[in-house]
Amino acid sequence: MSNSDQLIQSVLDEVAACQKLTDLENIRVRYLGKTGLVTEELKNLSNLSIEEKKIQGKALNNIKLKIIESIEAKKEELETHQLDIKLSKEFIDCTLPIRNNRLSEAKIHPITQTINEIVSILGEMGLRYEEGPDVENDFNNFTALNIPKNHPARQMHDTFYLKKNYDGEKLVLRTHTSPVQIRTLQKSNLPIKIFAPGRTYRCDSDMTHTPMFHQVEGLVVDKNIKFSNLKWFVEEFCKTFFKQDELKLRFRPSYFPFTEPSAEVDINCEVKSGKIILGKGTKWLEILGCGMVHPNVFKQCKLNNDNFTGFAFGMGIERLAMLKYGMPDLRDFFEGDINWLQHYGFSPFDTSDLSWR
Ligand code: DAH
Repeated sequence: MSNSDQLIQSVLDEVAACQKLTDLENIRVRYLGKTGLVTEELKNLSNLSIEEKKIQGKALNNIKLKIIESIEAKKEELETHQLDIKLSKEFIDCTLPIRNNRLSEAKIHPITQTINEIVSILGEMGLRYEEGPDVENDFNNFTALNIPKNHPARQMHDTFYLKKNYDGEKLVLRTHTSPVQIRTLQKSNLPIKIFAPGRTYRCDSDMTHTPMFHQVEGLVVDKNIKFSNLKWFVEEFCKTFFKQDELKLRFRPSYFPFTEPSAEVDINCEVKSGKIILGKGTKWLEILGCGMVHPNVFKQCKLNNDNFTGFAFGMGIERLAMLKYGMPDLRDFFEGDINWLQHYGFSPFDTSDLSWR
């Protein structure tokens, strides 16, 4: 065996015995690196005669190629082996169910959706959007609405009382949206045509009550406003909101301190295999309270009401949503359950219910 054959054989043996990619790289550097054995030999060629250069050069190139070939082959073998080990360790079970379906679309909460629908209908019916604060003073929430101190209606409201403010004024979490009537009557010029949706609070919690809920208030004050205007308005709203042209309404005499006369409004329905169908049948469901603005309310707001009369109404938004969309339990609205929202929520891209017919 010639010297070059011996060298090739020993390199091939080394490569064959090699178990790691790093060791293989060391072998490559030792022979073919900048100062490697073969590289040095190639450099020395310049000292030889032309004839010798030819012979030695060919032999050295042959050695170099053989070494490169064997290293490349070994490299592939080691890499494949490494990948096999990795794959056997990192087993992916693609039969497991998805834990969190991130592809699902975000949903609009039914309360937001219902408020948006109400805003759209009442806005198109000519009412202006108004707001009031959740923390109200006692005067706006009660006194100005003709509910003086020791009036039994105050007990009915289960009020959350807060600390007095710096003026010594009593503060509450508003028990209804009616105080927005007072704020508007005090600041606006007549005629007034407004509605005000928002959060309301009562210290009450059971199957049909949550401490926080939503109402929408309506107030129309103008020359010559009559109960018949109220009837038309409420009827038009209910038919549009529930998308039921055949819906029947019943105005039942009632009592609210801030309206006289007052009424509660029922809509007709039937119950079929546990489901409520609106606009059919002879059963009645209470839907809102309303009436003609009490003269004492105008007086409390220092308004001369000689030429003006008005009507007002107030409705519970959760109740409207539950009836329209067949939701059985009030408390679900505030559980924050993402699965419930996926089921009962609304597509942000569906605006079909947001324009008046
Ligand atoms: N504020 C009343 C309540 O919370 C609802 C209500 C009834 C509002 C009659 C009105 C109204 O504006 O006229 O129970």
